[in-house]
Amino acid sequence: MALLIHGGRIITATEDFTGDIYAEHETITRIEPHIDAKLVAPGAEVIDARGKYVFPGFIDPHVHIYLPFMGTYAADDYESASKAALAGGTTTLIEMICPGASDEPVAAFELWKSKAEKLAAVDYTFHMSVVRFEEHIREQFREIVKAGVASFKVFLAYKGALNLSDEDLFGTMRLAKELGVIVTAHCENADAIDALQKSLLAAGKTGPEWHGPSRPPVVEADGVHHLCTFAELLGTHVYIVHTSCEPAVRAALEARKRGVNVWIESVIPHFLLDETYAERPAFEGAKYVMSPPLRAKANQNVLWNGVKSREISTIATDHAPFRFEDQKQMGRDAFTKIPNGIPSVQERVDLVHTCGVAAGRLGLQAMVDACATQAAKLFGLYPKKGTIQLGSDADLVVYDPSYRGTFSKECAYSNVDYSAYEGWEQKGRAAAVSVRGQVQARDGEFVGTIGRGKFLKREPTH
Ligand code: URP
Ligand code: ZN
Ligand code: ZN
Repeated sequence: MALLIHGGRIITATEDFTGDIYAEHETITRIEPHIDAKLVAPGAEVIDARGKYVFPGFIDPHVHIYLPFMGTYAADDYESASKAALAGGTTTLIEMICPGASDEPVAAFELWKSKAEKLAAVDYTFHMSVVRFEEHIREQFREIVKAGVASFKVFLAYKGALNLSDEDLFGTMRLAKELGVIVTAHCENADAIDALQKSLLAAGKTGPEWHGPSRPPVVEADGVHHLCTFAELLGTHVYIVHTSCEPAVRAALEARKRGVNVWIESVIPHFLLDETYAERPAFEGAKYVMSPPLRAKANQNVLWNGVKSREISTIATDHAPFRFEDQKQMGRDAFTKIPNGIPSVQERVDLVHTCGVAAGRLGLQAMVDACATQAAKLFGLYPKKGTIQLGSDADLVVYDPSYRGTFSKECAYSNVDYSAYEGWEQKGRAAAVSVRGQVQARDGEFVGTIGRGKFLKREPTH
């Protein structure tokens, strides 16, 4: 069905103007000051966007949906995660494939794809985690890249689980350079964390409030520096995921000054929640256990300013949903067993609008750049995704900045029993969200078609 969006304030990473957008066959075909609704295809859906913004569909470049992790599985599937994403204005997800230590990479890729195929209502693609790199499986990574997954993920953290040895990290980054594939990386020194965790537990410090002290900022900055050293030696392009604090941002920017091709992602919990949340009594702090941990409040300004100056490229979520009622309870006796993660895929865009744009910390174009355009550019989706131009997919968000509401679990689609932002005031909401021309969400409600989401095959661009 054709779609006409009339009279909205169209915002991209570089433009801001009022006009009409027309889409046919899933694609934007006209952008003009005025398009006569009587002269477009019969039956075209017409959305009155006067007084509203029109953004490109937002992209979340770091989510976990199917995730076997820390003795359990993340609580969402593609149906719940798609509904949550779309209700909040996100039309494309990039999920981390995180295989187990003995899994074959191609089998993992097929498994993750099968989880999405029938249930996705958003478009989606993957970063391929390399958790092992023996000689006999290397060819599989070439196959996966050929199949359209043009980014790797490595973990410098999670000793004994997802963590990659230095030898394998070096090999992975060399292969990535050869293939033109960017390496996304969780940067925290796994051995330092392991030692700190052991001494805290031995001292009887078992509650969620000790998760942060077991992974201080210097441990993250060390991880960033380490990854960037390898990138400097090999010329590989790298993307630091969930950069949470000033020392880690500084380590990345210093590497960039030395000529390393490094990009920085930060995730919404680190902009808005500080370490005191993990200190909440009665085990409530477990809801706020993620890695890297929530930091001292002073770091939040560093992140907002980094986005404003565009030194930080993307605002993602690291959506990793685990229920409080049972899953987070697995760490009652030891914070090291609390499944790490804070769900935010539905709230991200509204939080950036509420606490960034409406609070005067960020402009609308910087918001679009960080929440859509940069991810599309870095991960080979641009200009099909991440912008509004002729020929782009008609992924569009008609956004009502005057909406006022409250963030709450009650309005959330994720399969968890809490919202990390419960009771916070919400300023702005997606009034209509289209994926390739079809409206999939209205006024915070999913109204779309499960299974309509498409796997996005990407070419290497690095
Ligand atoms: O706490 C987090 N971040 N959980 C998900 C796994 C990861 O490290 O991204
Ligand atoms: Zn991570
Ligand atoms: Zn993650």
